[in-house]
Amino acid sequence: MTAVRVGLLGLGTVGSQVAERLSREAFVTERAGVPVELARVLVRDLNKPRAYAPPRELLTTAPEEILDDPSIAVIVEVMGGMEPARSHIEHAIESGKAVVTANKEVMAHHGPTLLELAKARGVDVYFEAAVGGGIPLISTFKIDLLANEISRIEAVINGTTNFIIDRMARDGVGFDAALAEAQALGYAEADATYDVEGFDAVFKLCIMSSIAFRTRIHPAEVYREGIRDLDPVDFAYAAELGYAIKLLAQARADGDEVEVRVHPTCVPTSHLLAAVHGAYNAVLIEGDLVGPVLLYGQGAGGRPTASAVVGDIIDLVFSMRKGISNRIAVDFSRAPRRRPMDQVRTAAYLRLHVADRAGVLAEVTRVLGELGISISSIVQKALIVEHAAAELVILTHPARECDLLAARERLASLSSVYAVPAFLRALSEAR
Ligand code: NAP
Ligand code: HSE
Repeated sequence: MTAVRVGLLGLGTVGSQVAERLSREAFVTERAGVPVELARVLVRDLNKPRAYAPPRELLTTAPEEILDDPSIAVIVEVMGGMEPARSHIEHAIESGKAVVTANKEVMAHHGPTLLELAKARGVDVYFEAAVGGGIPLISTFKIDLLANEISRIEAVINGTTNFIIDRMARDGVGFDAALAEAQALGYAEADATYDVEGFDAVFKLCIMSSIAFRTRIHPAEVYREGIRDLDPVDFAYAAELGYAIKLLAQARADGDEVEVRVHPTCVPTSHLLAAVHGAYNAVLIEGDLVGPVLLYGQGAGGRPTASAVVGDIIDLVFSMRKGISNRIAVDFSRAPRRRPMDQVRTAAYLRLHVADRAGVLAEVTRVLGELGISISSIVQKALIVEHAAAELVILTHPARECDLLAARERLASLSSVYAVPAFLRALSEAR
């Protein structure tokens, strides 16, 4: 049996775990049907200590030694970032090599183009690890739910931010300390801004929703807010009202419109996604035949992600042996309209600092009433005696985003309202 030779681009958190699993030759051969040989590994620094170190002679800093080696049939890209990763993937496809990648940034921006190119060249691009670490999501959307019209995706899809929120909300740890822990545990991107500001979740939502809704959703089309401005006091107030705050990625298909957004969201504690803690991820999918499906697991970390990467390698090698490529092609041909964010309907959580005197509540509720916003609950939280000020927390029923934003602005302009320190969207239904 001729071995399939693999070139690995990257030997960091994920790459070292991929190399380790591939080193278990009998295990991989049994599953792939042929030996899979780790041929060369691209790194930046030949002398860096590694969680798992393949034989030194396999390492190189010259990408062409891998990409232009005709004996290498499969390129595994786990270096991350846009460039040179995107160019290396394109080069590999052009050279007739199959590709496995964990790179959501590249796949969210250029996935459809790379998949088209791969189809034209008769090779495959697998990217299971790009979304949800070890959770089998891409194969679920591509294959297992193919019989469904998907109407909704709700997801806790970034492990780093979920870990940070948990540490802040449950353990009282500060933002910077919680982020440092997430980085030390290997959850964060090389540039943690991608996690904290919601870009990583946007990339993953783009990939999932493009496949699910059979359209090409670009990261620039996704409304995005990160978690950096969350105030710990809102975790406590939300919990008292029966909500957990999560960085939620949401995609909905509604008639001929789709909406896609990533932002901190108050999720009812009875909702399945409220129970997702630490670096775990969960994706709730609604299909017209299957109903709701929940996928849950470790969304970040070297070993869970290597599970998806090596699974892809084995699946790919298996298909190569059978002479099959593009078994299930992804279709991006639909063109639904994008619902602008200000037309989205959502419940909301508002925290106000107000004057503690008679008639203030009536002024506040009048503003909301005039904009057609119905209140679900309202609580006066704290009295700041020295300033004769109170803190009001309001939870609304679903309303149009544009009306909620207008309400925030009008409330902030009232003389009895000192500030509107928090405005968060909320899910109104438990699932
Ligand atoms: P990482 O720890 O930063 O590792 C990146 C590796 O790529 C390093 O070995 C680095 O070499 C190498 N590399 C980067 N740029 C290079 C260049 N220009 N030339 C040569 N080598 C280069 O990253 P990671 O956490 O393993 O993530 C890898 C990919 O998997 C990313 O796309 C990430 O988004 C994705 N992913 C990560 C996770 C996770 O939990 N970490 C989960 C899912 C998906 P040196 O070691 O020599 O610097
Ligand atoms: N930085 C990512 C996260 C890694 O925290 O979810 C997994 O994609």
